[in-house]
Amino acid sequence: MDNQDVKVALELIDCASTQKHAYNVSVAKDTIIVAKEQTEGMGRLNRKFLSKEGGCYFSLIIPKKNDDNILHYIPVVSVAIATVLNNYGLKAVIKWPNDIMVNGKKICGILCSSHYDKTIIGMGINIFNDLSEISDIATSFFKEGIINVTRAEVIASVLKNVYALLEYDFEKLNKIYQRFLYIKDKDITVKQNNGAVLKGRVVGISKDGFLKLKNDSGEITVMYGDITVN
Ligand code: BTN
Repeated sequence: MDNQDVKVALELIDCASTQKHAYNVSVAKDTIIVAKEQTEGMGRLNRKFLSKEGGCYFSLIIPKKNDDNILHYIPVVSVAIATVLNNYGLKAVIKWPNDIMVNGKKICGILCSSHYDKTIIGMGINIFNDLSEISDIATSFFKEGIINVTRAEVIASVLKNVYALLEYDFEKLNKIYQRFLYIKDKDITVKQNNGAVLKGRVVGISKDGFLKLKNDSGEITVMYGDITVN
């Protein structure tokens, strides 16, 4: 990835959730809000994101630009984080739409939201935080045997990758994204929150970041849902 200087404003704060805090601030330039821990960490679909001290919890606020497309940020951030984890020796893969997994367990969750004046990208990466409540589904740098790591270093590397990847055109980004997408060519089931269940083989990712599946009815595009490999 290109070596370039990234300049963003940083706020280290005590807050219930960096994402909630980010909703309420207005910024003139790209800003990250970082918390040591969160008491009300927000996950996708109104789920709670366990955020005990020792993890890396931050929200990147990007003031709205005319050509902003929130869907572009999700693959950019997923690839940025997966690349950082790999550089630490972790075998990270992307679980569409926005989880990063190591050895079958979640190590990072990403939450993007779009507002009239800004896009907010929240990232929660497990480093040294206690995960005993969810040890069957979650892992961390520590649990994977990586202890030579700091929160500041992880954030700096992620941001550097994010800004480099934002310069990539879709084709180039999508190629890298699909290398990390472990469900590529696998038969999966997608459960949507309206109760719908879709099945098919993963053939790729659309330009909008949606999942492309092939099944007996042809090719379908899935915009959201929780997936399991059959
Ligand atoms: C998910 O896995 O469902 C998404 C989790 C996103 C968690 C991050 S941690 C920083 C930011 N603040 C929050 O409250 N949530 C996001």
